[in-house]
Amino acid sequence: MSEADILTPQTIVPFLADIFERRGAEEYLGENVTIAEHMLQGAYLAEQRGEDEQIIVAALLHDIGHFTSELGTFEMNDEIDRLHEDAGAEILERFFPPLITDCVRQHVAAKRYLCSVDPMYFGRLSQASVKSLELQGGPMERDEATEFAKNPNLDAIVKVRHLDDEGKIVGFKPPGFDHYAPMVQRAVDSHCSTEAA
Ligand SMILES: [Fe+2]
Repeated sequence: MSEADILTPQTIVPFLADIFERRGAEEYLGENVTIAEHMLQGAYLAEQRGEDEQIIVAALLHDIGHFTSELGTFEMNDEIDRLHEDAGAEILERFFPPLITDCVRQHVAAKRYLCSVDPMYFGRLSQASVKSLELQGGPMERDEATEFAKNPNLDAIVKVRHLDDEGKIVGFKPPGFDHYAPMVQRAVDSHCSTEAA
């Protein structure tokens, strides 16, 4: 049984904090911001824009699967997709509202979707994002994009995707995980109290 299997609504937030503190300083996709800085930047940008807490928390946690995937962390010379979006959603879905989990699970598909429907989008992707796009299946075909657009959480998913793309600002140190911990716990409490009711 892994550590993740015995998480509870009381231990999930410290578990996530620990990932940010101990492992978050690992390189991010060959770019010059760490995975922790990348996620914290996305959350900070969302907060600055007055987004809902669920969007902020989703941006904060969207790449957590890089640390929890049994397939390990992305490297630029990867020839397989390590499916970090599924690994992240699996950890989070027991504790977080479906909107947050959906934004995490779909943030890679959202890149493939936006490449298909927004001609300007591809040109704004980082080199590492372009590289991973190849492994992730490339831009969606029209039918797949039409189907994807039916997701009732589409607006939130696209918003988190853009925060993902923006949160790669070299040299910018946003507030740390502690700043968001109460908000993250509120999201857990709202979901788990609903489940228990
Ligand atoms: Fe990301």
